[in-house]
Amino acid sequence: MSESAGAHQPSTQVLPHELPASLRDAGLVNWIREPLDDAVDRRRRIIMPPAAAVMGTPASAYQGALLAEARHPDTVFMMGDNPELPKLPERPALKDFFLLRFSRIARTHLLQSARVARENGLDEKVITACLLHDIAIAGLLSANHGYWGAQMVAPYVGEEVAWAIEKHEALRYFPDESVGYSYPEAYIDYFGPDYDPPDYIRREHQAARQHRWYMTSRLITINDIYSFDPDVVVGYDEFEDIVGRNFRQPAEGLGFDGSPVAHMWRTMIWPNNFL
Ligand SMILES: [Fe+2]
Ligand SMILES: [Fe+2]
Repeated sequence: MSESAGAHQPSTQVLPHELPASLRDAGLVNWIREPLDDAVDRRRRIIMPPAAAVMGTPASAYQGALLAEARHPDTVFMMGDNPELPKLPERPALKDFFLLRFSRIARTHLLQSARVARENGLDEKVITACLLHDIAIAGLLSANHGYWGAQMVAPYVGEEVAWAIEKHEALRYFPDESVGYSYPEAYIDYFGPDYDPPDYIRREHQAARQHRWYMTSRLITINDIYSFDPDVVVGYDEFEDIVGRNFRQPAEGLGFDGSPVAHMWRTMIWPNNFL
């Protein structure tokens, strides 16, 4: 490193300035990474909470205070690799996101759903749809997850798989007793017994029922609700062959293939980038 570049680095002996008590009191220290030995330099790194995560919560009031912190020379916003997260390979594949980004509970849910679908003798496109159906919850956003998830995988899977993932968002709220699907018990806990899906979800459900691919999406919901067993461990490798045949992995790696959804995968590679 040249001397002039070194001159901009804070001394390794000096601890960063004290954070204002208001930030500590607000619990925002959870968004702030203090210098650690494995950090690339000795600067404190602030993660600016994404609007979608904090809107409607007290944390949204602290954007200005966090911006002010970044004016200190010992403090920057998180950009690029967060040392807290495993580094992904240069050309990440679907498996890397499953193993290095998705939480254990999300990964297990997806793998269990796919396994149940396989044990039920369903075809590969349904197994693939089950494996990917909640990928947006696992790595990006929970609200509207069916739509986000369908977009994320659309360039890489068959049209029917992406369609089924999108429509499971609406279908899961509505029973279809003809195929043994009841309203999920879990939703009574999650949303309360009086939850009423909004009109747009009702319309989506009605339209999906008339569609020729209805059953593909319905099968996602059927294989979904039995798949939260925390004691069942399913390895990703069990589905490597199915993924190989049903998910067109881009040679440049997910996030770098210039597809219309590459930015979504990059957001999962570097989820804490300020901008
Ligand atoms: Fe879902
Ligand atoms: Fe699910």
